[in-house]
Amino acid sequence: MAVLRMPWIGLALLGVLGVLQTQAQVSVQPDFQEDKFLGRWFTAGLASNASWFREKKAMLSMCKSVVAPTAGGLNLTSTFLRKNQCETRTMLLQPVGSPGHYSYRSPHWGSTYSVSVVETDYQEYALLYSEGAKGPGQDFRMATLYSRTQTPRAELREKFVTFCKDQGFTEDTIVFLPQTDKCTKEQA
Ligand SMILES: *[C@@H]1O[C@H](CO)[C@@H](O)[C@H](O)[C@H]1NC(C)=O
Ligand SMILES: *[C@@H]1O[C@H](CO)[C@@H](O)[C@H](O)[C@H]1NC(C)=O
Repeated sequence: MAVLRMPWIGLALLGVLGVLQTQAQVSVQPDFQEDKFLGRWFTAGLASNASWFREKKAMLSMCKSVVAPTAGGLNLTSTFLRKNQCETRTMLLQPVGSPGHYSYRSPHWGSTYSVSVVETDYQEYALLYSEGAKGPGQDFRMATLYSRTQTPRAELREKFVTFCKDQGFTEDTIVFLPQTDKCTKEQA
């Protein structure tokens, strides 16, 4: 009897482990091609359950990010408006695991975040999911809509809302950032 019961238990355990694993690691764009993901993106939409985000989300506007290759990873440099001035921030993303998964360590907070390109067509949009992995920001979760233009199509906005809900974000935590000329213009 024990012999017969064993495979069943084994499969049940595998099932449970499978569920745990998919929760720990978010899916990525199949056959992710990093070279096609490079270049300029606009942060058109965001969702996060962080308390600072709930407070600040109405004040945010679209920012420009440029993704470039750098030694061993990606250099993601964002330009945004803060206190009427353009500021830039650089995040260095290190690849971890399968292509499309990255890790980012905040030098300021000493926290580590995981960043995944969940879906992209490279030419129009990318859906990103990030979450705290270690350190102070551990319960931080964020979904991002990257758009190649400042005017994402309505279908793309809907796609992002669906994506956010699939990731467990409620409607009130999703925001589409208003377009702005400040700090997003192309620079030589
Ligand atoms: C955000 O969501 C995560 C996962 O559901 C949770 O652990 C965390 O406490 C939430 N944070 C806030 C500020 O609600
Ligand atoms: C990242 O890119 C920015 C903007 O091009 C550049 O100023 C910075 O030096 C780069 N940093 C690294 C480590 O590559």
